[in-house]
Amino acid sequence: MILKQFSEHQRHIGIIGHKINHTMSPIMHTSAFKKLNLDYDYGVMDIVPDMLPSLIASLRTLNFRGANITIPYKEKVIHLTDEISEESKMIGAVNTIVNNNGRLVGYNTDAHGVYISLAYYAEEIKNNHVVIFGAGGAARAVVYAVAKYFSPKRIMIVNRTLEHASAIAEEFGPKFRLTKFFSTNDHDVAVREINVASLLINTTSVGMIPLINFHPLPPNTVIQKNQLVFDIVYNPIETALLKVAQYAGARTISGIDMLLGQGAKAFELFTHHEFPIHTAREAVLTELLQVKENSL
Ligand code: ATR
Repeated sequence: MILKQFSEHQRHIGIIGHKINHTMSPIMHTSAFKKLNLDYDYGVMDIVPDMLPSLIASLRTLNFRGANITIPYKEKVIHLTDEISEESKMIGAVNTIVNNNGRLVGYNTDAHGVYISLAYYAEEIKNNHVVIFGAGGAARAVVYAVAKYFSPKRIMIVNRTLEHASAIAEEFGPKFRLTKFFSTNDHDVAVREINVASLLINTTSVGMIPLINFHPLPPNTVIQKNQLVFDIVYNPIETALLKVAQYAGARTISGIDMLLGQGAKAFELFTHHEFPIHTAREAVLTELLQVKENSL
């Protein structure tokens, strides 16, 4: 038996979500702690919804420094914190909670990850049309960041549950006057908008392990080669959506930069150290390529 040694000063961090076998956050953060010789550990807390309030309450104790929050709890944790940042308020979702001596403060670092992923393409997004699939907590950060940093003419949110998409469109409309927001769950409407969009973004979990053969595009969608396609799913690294887009000759953006971008900001909030991004990228890519090889 191998016994892991803990020091009494070791601080704990983890990722809280449900059905999150895909997550690379432990590998990413652990590689960074090791590189900087920091006494932290990082675990996975895969819980059913009923356990969320007590788990979040326990972050105030037991040497916890905080947690990252993922599917499907980014919106649900808000009322369990003591305070959230202005940006989280605007977005309506929290993906990072920091325990400041028993006080839980919520942040959203996803928006930074979106900015990092799309900054190079800013000119192609500005004044153009963007289609975003999904209307959960991740979608909120994506809609916010795209509108705030890139000012497209239109954002169409496509989601199987129309109310979720409409709520985001109505909420963000008055906040970003340069962009018009629309929502739909109708395939024909979605296809018409996809045809004239410069950028398509998947924020749903469709395509993520274990749903790797699925993508969120409605039937009859034809991707064009002048389009950009961004999938925030990073496991697998080449999702079904990105494969379809590459086949059509479009340019693709994987979820790796979003993972690292949001991770960097969260790491800095937890540790007050600069995130060793090259080390973390190498650790994540090595693991993802291993997963890919094993699945061939
Ligand atoms: P996150 O916080 O990561 O955004 P979430 O809040 O659970 O996670 O949101 C997941 C999004 O993916 C939702 O928009 C969800 O659609 P609904 O609003 O209809 O629930 C979407 N989603 C998840 N699984 C899906 C599936 N199999 N097909 C289509 N959409 C799916």
